[in-house]
Amino acid sequence: MVTILVGGQWGDEGKGKIIDLLSERADMVIRSQGGNNAGHTVVNAGQEFRFHLIPSGILYPNTTCVIGNGVVLDPRVLLEEMAQVQSRGISTDRLVISDRAHVIMPWHPVLDKLEEEQRGDDRLGTTWRGIGPAYADKIRRIGFRAGDLQKPRFLQKKLGFVLNKIKNPILQELYHVPPLDPEAVLEEYTGYGERLGPYIKDIFPIVQQALARGDRILLEGAQGSMLDLDFGTYPYVTSSSPTAGGALTGSGIPPTAVDLTMGVMKAYTTRVGYGPMPTELVDALGEQIRKIGVEYGTTTGRPRRVGWFDAVVARYSVALNGIRSIALTKLDVLDQLDPIRICTGYLSKGELQAYPMSNISHLKHCEPVYETMPGWRSSIADIRRPEDLPKAARRYIDRLSELCGAPIDIVSVGPSRDQTIWMQGGPSRLSVRQREHEPSHP
Ligand code: GDP
Ligand code: IMO
Ligand code: MG
Repeated sequence: MVTILVGGQWGDEGKGKIIDLLSERADMVIRSQGGNNAGHTVVNAGQEFRFHLIPSGILYPNTTCVIGNGVVLDPRVLLEEMAQVQSRGISTDRLVISDRAHVIMPWHPVLDKLEEEQRGDDRLGTTWRGIGPAYADKIRRIGFRAGDLQKPRFLQKKLGFVLNKIKNPILQELYHVPPLDPEAVLEEYTGYGERLGPYIKDIFPIVQQALARGDRILLEGAQGSMLDLDFGTYPYVTSSSPTAGGALTGSGIPPTAVDLTMGVMKAYTTRVGYGPMPTELVDALGEQIRKIGVEYGTTTGRPRRVGWFDAVVARYSVALNGIRSIALTKLDVLDQLDPIRICTGYLSKGELQAYPMSNISHLKHCEPVYETMPGWRSSIADIRRPEDLPKAARRYIDRLSELCGAPIDIVSVGPSRDQTIWMQGGPSRLSVRQREHEPSHP
């Protein structure tokens, strides 16, 4: 049974919490794209964990956690994260790293930052983690894979070529910064290869066996659909495909094995970095929501841009990913707001648009069309049953579901595991939904 979980907006929707929640019933959780630009928060029994590379299922002792081939992996960051998790009494023995995953090399974060500086006012606002440069090298076929870290002679030869012929000339001649020493990089990265060696494997047979056994597999998306390289607000996107499609190529799972695609959506909208965001609130109200929602980046600490729920974006994500179930998060953040607005369309060049336009200049200048709903002006953080929700909150949820074109099965009313309302009868309902909709197995 395969469930794909994707971010339905611009990232930070609360995927970490939902993955953790669903992991109780998962045998395997796979990260399939992105790298340590991601920051997924899990709050359990008063303890907060922030995962950048380790799949958010790691808190469950029987869940295998896989870093898939589609991920770009910074080995230094991963080792630090593993040490942190271990220091809190959690074993990382169940971690598996695809030998096909590409490695973030020391020049990638350096170039990420230098390229951003070069862009000046047109900068993207990347996380400076080297994500774009690492994926670019993968596509250029000059990337290093996790499996390469265990082959010192191969690594030495390849480093000689890539550093001396390509990267160092760029660093020195274009950016006037000191070159990197291939021998030092070799030593550092073979060291990582030794330390990560026990975890690095060909995941293909592992995933195939899990599929054959009928294991419950969860694909943990990073980022969000609007940051997708093709379908997001290019060039203000990340360098991978945080869509259901990307989850498949990033893990080696065939489309026919997928039972359900879930989308995580925040009850309002946030975005970190630059690029169009039609419902952005650049006023006191935006500031208020940012404060209540603690909207500061998990990875970079940057304040997140905040705005009303954008049903145009949500509807697009549902259609793009084939989302059949929505987890709506952070509804509690809207507790004291009244009225609440929902963007139902964009007015662009005199025409009402049903989906975000591919032309980002049109997107930047469009006028969001809003409908207004009454707020509920009470705390919902302690509510656990749908029937106990204030009527206005119920109406807001139903309206979002209607506008998105998919059922909302989970409503999250706080960061911790238990602050969750199952709207249609508990976790087992999800497996029913998996069986109900378009059966994908022959
Ligand atoms: P992710 O990248 O999608 O995993 O999301 P982040 O972890 O970057 O950001 C989500 C933030 O919201 C984290 O601090 C979570 O602990 C928090 N969070 C998740 N769900 C809820 C919720 O329902 N209510 C509130 N108030 N906070 C939540
Ligand atoms: P999670 O998984 C929110 C944004 C960056 C920047 C753009 C490109 O926590 O939801 P990159 O470093 O990827 O080249 O930056 O993408 N971005 C995210 N925004 N959540 C994320 O991950 C993000 N990962 C990247 O802010 O605008
Ligand atoms: Mg995040």
